[in-house]
Amino acid sequence: MASKSFARTALRASKQKAAAPAVPKRSFVSAPASRPVVSRSTRAVAAPIQQQTRGVKTIDFAGHQEQVFERSDWPREKLHEYFKNDTLALIGYGSQGHGQGLNLRDNGLNVIVGVRKNGQSWKEAQQDGWIPGTNLFDVDEAISKGTIIMNLLSDAAQSETWPAIKPQLTKGKTLYFSHGFSPVFKDLTKVDVPTDIDVILVAPKGSGRTVRSLFREGRGINSSIAVYQDVTGKAEEKAIAMGVAVGSGYLYKTTFEKEVWSDLYGERGCLMGGIHGMFLAQYEVLRERGHSPSEAFNETVEEATQSLYPLIGANGMDWMYAACSTTARRGAIDWSSKFKDTLKPVFNELYDSVKDGSETKRSLEYNSQPDYREKYEKEMQDIRDLEIWRAGKAVRGLRPENN
Ligand SMILES: NC(=O)c1ccc[n+]([C@@H]2O[C@H](COP(=O)([O-])OP(=O)(O)OC[C@H]3O[C@@H](n4cnc5c(N)ncnc54)[C@H](OP(=O)(O)O)[C@@H]3O)[C@@H](O)[C@H]2O)c1
Repeated sequence: MASKSFARTALRASKQKAAAPAVPKRSFVSAPASRPVVSRSTRAVAAPIQQQTRGVKTIDFAGHQEQVFERSDWPREKLHEYFKNDTLALIGYGSQGHGQGLNLRDNGLNVIVGVRKNGQSWKEAQQDGWIPGTNLFDVDEAISKGTIIMNLLSDAAQSETWPAIKPQLTKGKTLYFSHGFSPVFKDLTKVDVPTDIDVILVAPKGSGRTVRSLFREGRGINSSIAVYQDVTGKAEEKAIAMGVAVGSGYLYKTTFEKEVWSDLYGERGCLMGGIHGMFLAQYEVLRERGHSPSEAFNETVEEATQSLYPLIGANGMDWMYAACSTTARRGAIDWSSKFKDTLKPVFNELYDSVKDGSETKRSLEYNSQPDYREKYEKEMQDIRDLEIWRAGKAVRGLRPENN
């Protein structure tokens, strides 16, 4: 991208930004980053609390009023009081289990982990300080002890283990998910929830590692919350409290259906599948037109991920257009509408494929094959072997931090 006037225009844009009305200050209940990960008891000693009232409840998102729930309304003492009679049984200790489990423990709540004995997760949970017989159990024992059952098994495993889990979800317990996948696509997953329990969702908008790292930084991840079934009349409140307890900063209300449809759609589209397709198409054309691998990679991936995308994330697209050269701006604005018109039918096809269950069917069928890990590894190797990503490895190797 031609960017001769970048510095000048960027300065102007950032001055404009600086002159904009101040956004209300945010703060969250924080656990210091230096906090030890390992805890010896189920109810960990509470970390010092930094509390500040923000009071934002209804936010105008581009002219649409939406209710947003915040961590500041749920200080740690209130969480302790709210969950004083509960045992949070976290089933599965993968990415989300790890992040949510450790945050719950650091928040001083009564949380136990349930995983299959001697599996990979059993070992990892012990490394994180969960103690067999104290707060680490096999799945059945954890469910029997729990009042709120957090099903954080992989989506394929939720379906596979459902016949064994369902009878244990007796009246009075609450079932918690972090993805609407299993109950929404129940015709395919066979996860038909008992009709006499609350069923809630807290879906962090990021990896479990980020759920943990943002909590440790004293911030909080954005999460969606939803209610699938409200038997007690208190399901939504419980979802909000759980959302804060697992380490969310802001909680956005949705439905199980919308959460799963948008999530499957997004990851297949702009978050990964779509962006990978764009990278490949642009790179291949540059290579076919005689550009070197380094030039093709730098102009396709490196400049995007190292410079422009973080700036768009921080400041928005209008700022980005304002901060580039007039040449770049004219062409990018013109071509954006061509790309949009070309891609929109593909995005509609994708949404249909998510909503009618085709994506779920494919995912369940593929991921329940006994050799699915080997098949994925072969696909990952094929991607690693693509020239674009081999060139990328060399480019990344030149970064000072990798030298
Ligand atoms: N990962 C994310 O970024 C993310 C973000 C938001 C929401 N979510 C949702 O959070 C939930 C958990 O996702 P995750 O990514 O944390 O899961 P994951 O890493 O795939 O977790 C796998 C867990 O499932 C267990 N497991 C797998 N097969 C099993 C079986 N047959 N029987 C018993 N246990 C089995 C594993 O235990 P072993 O170690 O013993 O195999 C492990 O503890 C899902 O609903 C997912 O959609 C995930």
